[in-house]
Amino acid sequence: MMRSLAQLKALVVPLLALCAQVSAKHDTMVNSQIRLAYVGDTAMRVSWSAFDKVDRPVVFYGKTPSALVYAASSDESVTYNTSSVYANHVTIEGLEPDTVYYYSLPQHLICDNEAHAQPPFSFRTSRSPGDMTPYSVAVVIDMGTMGHNGLTTSAGQGVNPNNILRPGEQNTIQSLDAVKDDYEFIFYPGDFAYADDWLDEESEGFLPNTTIQEGYEVYQSINNDFYDEMTKISTVKPWMVGAGNHEASCIPDGVETYNGISYNASLICQPGLTNFTGYRNHWRMPSDVSGGQGNFWYSFDNGMVHWIMLDTETDLGDGFIGPDQTGGVEKDIAGPFGPYANAQLDWLKKDLASVDRTITPWIIVGGHRPWYLSYANQSTTICWDCKDVFEPLFLEYAVDLYLSGHAHFYQRSAPLNNSVIDPRELDNPTSPWYITNGAAGHYDGLSEGTNPPAPYERFRLDERDATYGWSKLTFHNRTHLTHQFVASGNGSILDTATLYKEH
Ligand SMILES: *[C@@H]1O[C@H](CO)[C@@H](O)[C@H](O)[C@H]1NC(C)=O
Ligand SMILES: *[C@@H]1O[C@H](CO)[C@@H](O)[C@H](O)[C@H]1NC(C)=O
Ligand SMILES: *[C@@H]1O[C@H](CO)[C@@H](O)[C@H](O)[C@H]1NC(C)=O
Ligand SMILES: *[C@@H]1O[C@H](CO)[C@@H](O)[C@H](O)[C@H]1NC(C)=O
Ligand SMILES: *[C@@H]1O[C@H](CO)[C@@H](O)[C@H](O)[C@H]1NC(C)=O
Ligand SMILES: *[C@@H]1O[C@H](CO)[C@@H](O)[C@H](O)[C@H]1NC(C)=O
Ligand SMILES: *[C@@H]1O[C@H](CO)[C@@H](O)[C@H](O)[C@H]1NC(C)=O
Ligand SMILES: *[C@@H]1O[C@H](CO)[C@@H](O)[C@H](O)[C@H]1NC(C)=O
Repeated sequence: MMRSLAQLKALVVPLLALCAQVSAKHDTMVNSQIRLAYVGDTAMRVSWSAFDKVDRPVVFYGKTPSALVYAASSDESVTYNTSSVYANHVTIEGLEPDTVYYYSLPQHLICDNEAHAQPPFSFRTSRSPGDMTPYSVAVVIDMGTMGHNGLTTSAGQGVNPNNILRPGEQNTIQSLDAVKDDYEFIFYPGDFAYADDWLDEESEGFLPNTTIQEGYEVYQSINNDFYDEMTKISTVKPWMVGAGNHEASCIPDGVETYNGISYNASLICQPGLTNFTGYRNHWRMPSDVSGGQGNFWYSFDNGMVHWIMLDTETDLGDGFIGPDQTGGVEKDIAGPFGPYANAQLDWLKKDLASVDRTITPWIIVGGHRPWYLSYANQSTTICWDCKDVFEPLFLEYAVDLYLSGHAHFYQRSAPLNNSVIDPRELDNPTSPWYITNGAAGHYDGLSEGTNPPAPYERFRLDERDATYGWSKLTFHNRTHLTHQFVASGNGSILDTATLYKEH
């Protein structure tokens, strides 16, 4: 039903409880958690969280901050059992590409405890496919909440002291915020907040103990903390996400033992984690306009790049249902999400085949799990099934770069073809380049890669270096792409490599 601006304004409820303190004990609040996602180059999805259901979520917008004369609305205000918030999703359509718009939420909840910008906020729509203007993107993976619920200057028992922040050290969220004018959007293939580690944080003496039954409050509070901290970035920069195992890490049956005490595992498993429920509520990725599936697999163009997000957790296809689905260590039983077993793979093939490289010469793919990595516990961390299903298509359609995380360190590898190093290295290789960067940081820090390194490893920073960071990708033109590792602590660039492709 179409409604006029006046009708929409009349619907707006007077400001709901500002910045409610739902539980002093767990310190939960909501700083709106506004998050943006591209939906092609003429639309933008605006999502946010509120404590109460919003009958008609509305976003007011316009081209100047003083005249938010347009409105977009929806009826999507969703929640799930034990969630403390409703996730609201509105799509603004009919926008111009590569254009700044201002927007505001009438139902707005703003807690100004971190000097958030006041509304109206602004976003820039995506560049049209084929626009060859250079741009940069922040690639962030495996980032936990920072501060008193997560990565900070102290930790519980058993955490390597090398992994905590030094006093005054800038964390990754602060680093991303400090330079947010330098990138267009955040590309984030999985593992958000690490709220599922709430019981580890309690049993290691870092967070106060609760009863297992109260655990959902701690879980929600860690999530809210994370999305609140990101709000100052996510109100202005689109945040394109993929699924990681920590969006579903549950051991759904049996008994789990922590510090010698046995718990009923079904009580530890939070409803938000069951079958990616929280993740499916929180985001609205543009699979609707790219033929993909929910927040699991989708693609989008931005300027000279065709971006693809894959689901490495479920729905692998070709007989593989997902790394933790068949009795892996974590047994994150979830999915399938596709209408049939090979849906993701068939979609990927069709999507890759449809790319016109004269318009978008670059194809960049993200997925949570790596397969080429100098890692000791290969069987639990490396997704060989992912290699089996995805790599042949990457080779056939000349994917330029695969970005992953899951292992909590940084490793830049060579371009590879079925484990064979491309003899041209970065000088116009025919094989895809592989970079894993799971070093954004979370409560218990970084992991170690193996020594000696895999022969294809070209650069690594791991637990021994105690350096958190993220990746900055810069597309210069149709032939040159630069990857940089940015150290969160001081913003310095610790690794730079440029890929040349004739295209
Ligand atoms: C879900 O909500 C119902 C009440 O509607 C409650 O009885 C049940 O225990 C909840 N489930 C979980 C796992 O918390
Ligand atoms: C919290 O619970 C753990 C068991 O999970 C126990 O080892 C620890 O001593 C408890 N801490 C406090 C402060 O009670
Ligand atoms: C754990 O709790 C669930 C739900 O209350 C119950 O169905 C299940 O039987 C319990 N399992 C064990 C091992 O106690
Ligand atoms: C997860 O959700 C999907 C979509 O609703 C459903 O088809 C699937 O059966 C669910 N999987 C599990 C393990 O509950
Ligand atoms: C490998 O996994 C085993 C069992 O989970 C663990 O004890 C060991 O520390 C891990 N090794 C490395 C290098 O991570
Ligand atoms: C990958 O290696 C195989 C085996 O050598 C070769 O046939 C194929 O052409 C290579 N593909 C690319 C894209 O380099
Ligand atoms: C593309 O960008 C690279 C890196 O900035 C530069 O060296 C190269 O000359 C550019 N190519 C063209 C055709 O402008
Ligand atoms: C910045 O941080 C990195 C990583 O901790 C460190 O190696 C480097 O020396 C620092 N640079 C400066 C200028 O302090």
